[in-house]
Amino acid sequence: MTLASPLVMVIFGATGDLMHRKLMPALYHLVRDGEMSRDIYIVGVGRREITTDQFRELMARSVCDRYGDTLDLSLWGRLTARMYYQKGHFEEKVLYDELTTLLTQFDDELAACVPRFFYLATPPEHYETILKHLHKSKLSEGCLPASAYAAAKRAGGQGFAAYTRVLIEKPFGKDLQTARHLDQLLGRIFEERQIYRIDHYLGKETVQNILSFRFANGIFEPTWNRKFIDHVQITLAEDVGVGKRGSFYEGVGALRDVVQNHMLEMFAIIAMDQPRAFDAQSIRSERVKVMKAIRPMTPKDVDTSVVRGQYEGYTKELNVDPRSETETFVALKLMLDSPRWKGVPFYLRTGKMLGKKVTEISIHFKKPVVCYGDVCLFPEDKVLRNVLAIRVEPDEGIALRLMVKKPGFGMALAPAEMEFTYKEAFAEIEQPQAYERLLLDTIRGDQTLFAHTLGIEASWQLVTKILKRWSVTKKAPSIYLKGSWGTKESDRLIEKDNRHWFLDED
Ligand code: BG6
Repeated sequence: MTLASPLVMVIFGATGDLMHRKLMPALYHLVRDGEMSRDIYIVGVGRREITTDQFRELMARSVCDRYGDTLDLSLWGRLTARMYYQKGHFEEKVLYDELTTLLTQFDDELAACVPRFFYLATPPEHYETILKHLHKSKLSEGCLPASAYAAAKRAGGQGFAAYTRVLIEKPFGKDLQTARHLDQLLGRIFEERQIYRIDHYLGKETVQNILSFRFANGIFEPTWNRKFIDHVQITLAEDVGVGKRGSFYEGVGALRDVVQNHMLEMFAIIAMDQPRAFDAQSIRSERVKVMKAIRPMTPKDVDTSVVRGQYEGYTKELNVDPRSETETFVALKLMLDSPRWKGVPFYLRTGKMLGKKVTEISIHFKKPVVCYGDVCLFPEDKVLRNVLAIRVEPDEGIALRLMVKKPGFGMALAPAEMEFTYKEAFAEIEQPQAYERLLLDTIRGDQTLFAHTLGIEASWQLVTKILKRWSVTKKAPSIYLKGSWGTKESDRLIEKDNRHWFLDED
């Protein structure tokens, strides 16, 4: 399909937060910049009692919040002319009948089978119901043969190929069993090449850059292994709490919310081997290999290598159980059983209400040998490790900590930084937002930046072991203060290995 072809984007959960904050602004931006056809139909599906006009107003607000004064009103008028709201309950057949009528109307209008993209932006408990209904109503099969025939006939025999794609948001299941169940259901209805599992971290420019950085520079790959790397850290910290998302977050927790997906996908990109080509199959299969090589955790490993916490005041948040033991913070140590990484620990930590909003990956290189017997080139404790810090956000960029000579008559050492920042290097280029990239790739049919079923299976293997152990030990998460860096156990987890949590500007 070319990007100029018309399409219909059916978004379930269209009055929700994701649509408001990310999807609608992304769609607008792509159409405005000519990246996507102006002949796009947008159908918002939701349970709220609103009219199409009210939906259009709601969407206008989403776009204005983001683009404000720069809103192109004539374009917006054109977009909204093809924007509809379909009210309905996800479990009722009538919703899908009405959708069929609406989508057939579009086919008729354009005298073609308009490709259909179904975006599941609802809470995950609705996925199964929606998928089953898409299947039963045959919406999943695309343009109906009868209308396709009529449309093609009117168009003199020419129509677009009838096809559909499904976009599905994480979390993909609650544990290994439910993830498999969801995947089997998806697999019965769609082929793998039609399924786009969204992990928006994979769409971030800085995460994608890790691949070019690693494989387009001759100096890193030879040292990217156990011989030169002491350990790796990944921090995904947020300075806000659960806000209005308490009912979603309860019973999900940080482990399922971000470790199973965003953090393990970043981890896989850092640890993967060089792909044979820069295509979806090669890159995804290398990422999957990493996930599969994670050393399985025994119950004892979970006790010693995973810690959980909850921010003070979490139980007073809206829609949160006052006795909740849901974790809002997790830190863990992972090992990989692969020749490249054997013996190199990966420390991951994530949490809400932490010191600041920052996502950073740091590669800590081994110190050089400076002492030979009693003779040292430099005092050993004055030589710090070289650290390559990949700042995913904010202040996107990459910094390398080096040891240099402090100016003066002696040979004193000091750490210094070499830095690349997007702000300086590409000042004139506006970075595309993750959802823009992911929506575009779905239309292009490029699955590189989407989670693969095998990777999901492997990540749930790990996460489910942790969850199971927690359900046996029943140890409540430790409380940490807002604005801190998590629990004391998290510091101990890394300090017992004689290492410390690191952030670039610390
Ligand atoms: C989402 C999680 O997937 O990622 C949220 O559900 C989290 O809890 C968010 O806040 C973080 O994403 P970003 O892009 O703001 O770092």
